[in-house]
Amino acid sequence: MKRSKVTVVGAGFVGATTAQRLVEKEIADVVLVDIIEGLPQGKALDMMESASVEGFSSKIVGTNRYEDTAGSDVIVITAGLARKPGMSRDDLLFKNAEIVGGIVEACAKHSPQAVIVMVTNPLDVMTWLAFKKSGFPSERVVGMAGELDSARYAYFLAEATGCAAKDVKAIVLGGHGDQMVPVPQHATVRGKPIQELLEAATIEQINQRARDGGAEIVKLLKTGSAFYAPSSSAVKMVRAILQDTGEVIPSCVYLKGAYGLNEVYCGVPARLGRGGARQVVELPLTEDQKKALHASAEDVRQNFLKLKV
Ligand code: 2OP
Repeated sequence: MKRSKVTVVGAGFVGATTAQRLVEKEIADVVLVDIIEGLPQGKALDMMESASVEGFSSKIVGTNRYEDTAGSDVIVITAGLARKPGMSRDDLLFKNAEIVGGIVEACAKHSPQAVIVMVTNPLDVMTWLAFKKSGFPSERVVGMAGELDSARYAYFLAEATGCAAKDVKAIVLGGHGDQMVPVPQHATVRGKPIQELLEAATIEQINQRARDGGAEIVKLLKTGSAFYAPSSSAVKMVRAILQDTGEVIPSCVYLKGAYGLNEVYCGVPARLGRGGARQVVELPLTEDQKKALHASAEDVRQNFLKLKV
């Protein structure tokens, strides 16, 4: 069987770790692209040299040329500047828009049938920019953040309840920014509602920690941002797309009426498969959560408008 081809743009921590997970799990052959000469080639060769130890047969190549990405099934874009302590994701807006805009055009030209999975921040705006710059149907342009925010939320809930993180189901909606919206009434531990297991005040503290999850890591690392959980989340999306699983994964997608939101990219649960985002799943929300989701989406829109594309 012909293995799928995934391009990962950006050979920094997020991109390289994403590529590593993709080949080690044999989800696809990978082309790792970066503008720095030698960096993607060196990392790809290093990974290939682990193949006999790890026992994978997927291939990874590193390159500085977009021609080598031709015919990719999925393109994961991680390139751009990462946050430094004290910076918000929006501080990255203009610089990363310049970087991402050019990358999307080059990738779309060589892989006109691909699904784009955006990872670069500010996530929702960059996903929207990729939709505009690629000319792809919106279903084929999605962003990774909801799964990451939900995974962080699940981990914090697992810690507070003393349960294994894999037994926790939790979801965070909205843009990948300070206004994201955790929805505790849909969080469960082995099927038991979290609201029956934890005090409301504890849940509120955890909600806030989830909103601040990215910044907490930036503060600790000092010179960069998270990459283990972000790459896991991106790979989960890529696998669902390539293997056409139809899994519901919180993702940044283009909304056309769901949740009362129109013509805006924002994080919601979406069914992913071949062709990208197949369907948005609508969860019942409280009035406050609906307001918060709309405020978060409006924030994405205002930032996107600043780009004047
Ligand atoms: C994060 O949440 C940097 O947005 C990234 O870790």
